[in-house]
Amino acid sequence: MKSLGTYGFIKGATGYIVGAIKKGSHNLEDFGYLLELIVLYATDLGLGTCWLGGTFTKSSFAKRINSKAGELVPGVISVGYIAEKPRRIESLLKRGKNTDRRLPWEELFFEDNFDRVLLPKRSREFLSVLNMVRLAPSASNRQPWRVVKRGNSCHFYLRRTPGYRESPLVRLTTVADLQRIDMGIAMSHFELTARELELDGGWQVSDPKIDLPDGDTEYTVSWVE
Ligand SMILES: Cc1cc2nc3c(=O)[nH]c(=O)nc-3n(C[C@H](O)[C@H](O)[C@H](O)COP(=O)(O)O)c2cc1C
Repeated sequence: MKSLGTYGFIKGATGYIVGAIKKGSHNLEDFGYLLELIVLYATDLGLGTCWLGGTFTKSSFAKRINSKAGELVPGVISVGYIAEKPRRIESLLKRGKNTDRRLPWEELFFEDNFDRVLLPKRSREFLSVLNMVRLAPSASNRQPWRVVKRGNSCHFYLRRTPGYRESPLVRLTTVADLQRIDMGIAMSHFELTARELELDGGWQVSDPKIDLPDGDTEYTVSWVE
């Protein structure tokens, strides 16, 4: 495991959850969605996990799972026992980026269109569902998910962090469009909570053509009752 290459970010006896994708529409969202289901399962067992989108050597993981031509390993997840005390590097990284913080509700969730904030009291049965989206992990904690609720449908948008993909560090270290993986992760948080609350619905890609707030925002998928 040590030889796999995670640039010293991951320490100790650890395992990895690795997957590969082929080219195709929504492949990165699918990847995020499916791997996050495994992350949540591991979390339920009391294990610690960390998504790695940048700080791993793609080729060594791809080799270890015998990935075929045309397959890509866009990220991996390390899994292991949670350390009793956080390492110094973890405290340093977290202090710098406020990683345990999340954006306020009113910056993430809207009603009918992007001009109107979704009031928590008007979100009714979606209150917990959206709160679980808000708690989802995301690459560099950028939290790019936005949701517009219309009736009982929730439309998911990716609000790209301006300059993020083009920044030299991200270009150098990542192999995939990590913010699309973030969208899939948010979808799994949404769906598991919806199912727990026995909300009836499913995913559809059907753009409701809501006016976009800026050029960085794009439609991804809808949850339709
Ligand atoms: C797609 C993706 C890629 C990530 N890549 C890395 C990484 O390369 N290195 C790392 O230390 N953390 C990585 N993370 C972890 C995030 O930084 C972390 O989830 C976020 O800062 C929120 O922190 P929290 O989940 O502890 O609240 C990644 C997370 C996601 C969702």
